[in-house]
Amino acid sequence: MCFTADEALFLLENDFDDLLMGYPVVDKGQIESLIPHLKAGKELVFMVDLVEHLQLLDSIGQSSEFTFDVCIDIDMSSTYPGLHFGVRRSSIRNEASLQLLLNALNGCPALKLRGIMGYEAQVAGLGDANPNQKLKSRVIQYLKKRSVNEFSERRKKAVDLIRKNGFEIDLVNGGGTGSIESTIEEPWVSEVTAGSGFYAPHLFDYYIRFRHLPAAAYAVQIVRRPSKNIYTCLGGGYIASGGIEAEKAPIIYLPEKARLDKNEGAGEVQTPVFYDGNINLNIGDPIFLRHSKAGELCERFNELYLISGNEIVDVVPTYRGEGKCFL
Ligand SMILES: Cc1ncc(COP(=O)(O)O)c(C=O)c1O
Repeated sequence: MCFTADEALFLLENDFDDLLMGYPVVDKGQIESLIPHLKAGKELVFMVDLVEHLQLLDSIGQSSEFTFDVCIDIDMSSTYPGLHFGVRRSSIRNEASLQLLLNALNGCPALKLRGIMGYEAQVAGLGDANPNQKLKSRVIQYLKKRSVNEFSERRKKAVDLIRKNGFEIDLVNGGGTGSIESTIEEPWVSEVTAGSGFYAPHLFDYYIRFRHLPAAAYAVQIVRRPSKNIYTCLGGGYIASGGIEAEKAPIIYLPEKARLDKNEGAGEVQTPVFYDGNINLNIGDPIFLRHSKAGELCERFNELYLISGNEIVDVVPTYRGEGKCFL
């Protein structure tokens, strides 16, 4: 799965040959730039949920004599009195809106429906077993359970309706890191997407259904010591996107029991660390932190060091290291 058309182009130019666009592309030039690769046999499925998405792709397809593969994004959020539990993305919320889009698809000769995607972000990205927030975690567990039942039924009904309309589909995508366990329980789901989970960042530390081993950290260097137990490091403020709750900030990984200053947190230029443990910390030493989600580290660093045991076994560039900025 990829995010923007420019990212898809970069991946197609670099030997990837089977991509799903996670988001709609509405830029004509960007869509056209992908066509030579698709005509050469590479696979890319465009994401749609509005008639406008269909019309744009269909008109480009007709004038380029090419048939685009498309996937319909189905809304997986739940609405409870006074609470929208989920994200605001697709307009396809029920069978009636799906039927309208299927009718429109029937009038698009340059499009082929490959399947559906449903991204259950309220399950995938929301922790539900935080030991410091027991009551809130209970409420989230309850809401998630209700929501999973509701949207898995919705996903199944969508697949049934599409097949009833005579479309043959082979793609039913779901998930995100925090919902893998529940999404794979749906027999009609053919694939699950996970991104953040490869790093196991700290947002995923407290989920009731899994426990991942932390897999990514970054180091900042102690450059100052404003008082006895305070070690101030250079840089460090790599914050996750989305709603700006405290959990989007990094946490200290090592040394154990070191903590951030509540007033300053992890800052763009400096990060003060409180520590009164047994390890002798000196100017120049590293403090290790873990980021919250997935993208923030790769936005800030050119390279990732891959470590096995105590050894660096490889160094790989991030998109930033490749000189790429896709949005
Ligand atoms: C549509 C969609 N599916 C799946 C994912 C993967 O989620 P995660 O990074 O939590 O694994 C994302 C992440 O942004 C997404 O946008």
